[in-house]
Amino acid sequence: MIPLQVLAVASEAFPVIKTGGLADVVGALPAALAPHGIAVRTLIPGYRPVLAALPRARTLQTLELMGAPARIRAGKVGDLDLLVLDAPHLFDRDGGPYSAHGVDFPDNPLRFGALCQAAAAIARGALAGEGGPGWRPDLVHAHDWQAGLTPAYLAYDGGPPMPTVFTVHNLAFQGWCPASLLGPLGLPPEAFGIEGVEYFGGIGTLKAGLRLADRITTVSPTYAAEITTPADGQALDGLLRTRRAALSGIVNGIDTAVWDPAADPALPARYSGPAARARGRNKAALQAAMGLAPKLGTLLFGMVSRLTEQKGIDLVLEALPAILGHGAQLAIVGTGDPAFEQSLRTAAATHPGRVAVRIGYDEGLAHLMQAGIDALLVPSRFEPCGLTQLCALRYGAIPVVARVGGLADTVIDANAASLAAGVATGIQFLPVSTQGLVNAIDRTAALHAGAEAWRRTQRNAMRAQVGWARPAAAYAALFRMVVHG
Ligand code: ADP
Ligand code: GLC
Repeated sequence: MIPLQVLAVASEAFPVIKTGGLADVVGALPAALAPHGIAVRTLIPGYRPVLAALPRARTLQTLELMGAPARIRAGKVGDLDLLVLDAPHLFDRDGGPYSAHGVDFPDNPLRFGALCQAAAAIARGALAGEGGPGWRPDLVHAHDWQAGLTPAYLAYDGGPPMPTVFTVHNLAFQGWCPASLLGPLGLPPEAFGIEGVEYFGGIGTLKAGLRLADRITTVSPTYAAEITTPADGQALDGLLRTRRAALSGIVNGIDTAVWDPAADPALPARYSGPAARARGRNKAALQAAMGLAPKLGTLLFGMVSRLTEQKGIDLVLEALPAILGHGAQLAIVGTGDPAFEQSLRTAAATHPGRVAVRIGYDEGLAHLMQAGIDALLVPSRFEPCGLTQLCALRYGAIPVVARVGGLADTVIDANAASLAAGVATGIQFLPVSTQGLVNAIDRTAALHAGAEAWRRTQRNAMRAQVGWARPAAAYAALFRMVVHG
């Protein structure tokens, strides 16, 4: 069977550049799709760390983008077959992928517009070569608003239909820019309409992807349903209702080789199965690393998260008395909104040894957290999928999650029925409020006190299927359907 050739387009891909779960998904999907006869090449921007990770990248093509020359270069990192858009005028700068010192780059629409233009050029054969061994995709898979204009360029360039799939990882980030950028983005006037890129009087790059791709996926079935409602549709629910037949949800996996408690280099003690003793050693190491009191029997709650409104950080701060009331500890690793960072620092200073916070991004500590905490809090107001609860399941940390989006689809609440059936893997709660979270914390403490039920829930959690096998099969089937009809 000749593999189906897919061009993935995204602004992040683990391990070369990551700010969140998008990078994990984009980084893991290609290897998971390979056994299904799908060959993926992934186009990402040539930010400094990306180029540094690919010192020997070959130049495949040069093109003019947003008024200056750019190169499409190729290189491999592990299983990832990367195409890198090396455009120094857009990507060679200090800071992260989207911002520096907490301020978004003002030219983000043009930076990611250029990424989409490069993707469309590749889809149209820019790498096909003249007689030589070239490459041409059968399908384009674009991720989130940064890649959302890709289907638009392909819709308005006068070329033949090109199969496209657009995956939305988070409807909250919509990539809006003023209509005056239509020309600079190289979009024709006829693109500026309700059936095209127009969105609230300007250009909506997320909207463009949702409107113009052949198929839309999001990262869980529950989120796919939620976003067609006014309450969770972030003003796009009307459009999504009209496209309901093209919309589906596929739950994310995690890379079970990277997240493997039996082989994780970040852990002082590796383990498979609930292995209380090994988890105890990791807990002790975590308590020491975070400056928490060295108490093994104490229920230790943790959080690994971007610190934003979405993630319910304020709810955790408000529920702190409940956590401390149970004599429990709390450890948080995260970065984000400066106001949340400051409130968390204050909470840690107020309760030394019982509340600990590490502000920053630390991959190794994220692993140690999952192996050392007893329960992971994920009180998100909305959550398209969520990956940290999947890591928690695999590491035997009990996820305590809001029953929304992918959290609803990946955790089995330890209620009377599921405990009797022996299938519980965590705790879910609604409403997503301080009281809802407090109730869930109380339930967690009660479950923890009944050692046998806790152990059983941990065992179930560690057996949950959180890898890419099932989701990859679903993506592969979808891609084939879009290409072959
Ligand atoms: P989102 O993409 O909305 O931030 P996800 O749960 O889908 O949420 O993915 C978050 C990913 O980022 C996970 O792999 C998690 O372990 C990781 N992560 C988040 N914050 C940190 C941090 N401060 N340090 C290390 N890893 C982090
Ligand atoms: C987004 C979502 C998160 C999801 C991730 C990967 O960042 O917020 O829920 O897991 O994308 O799809």
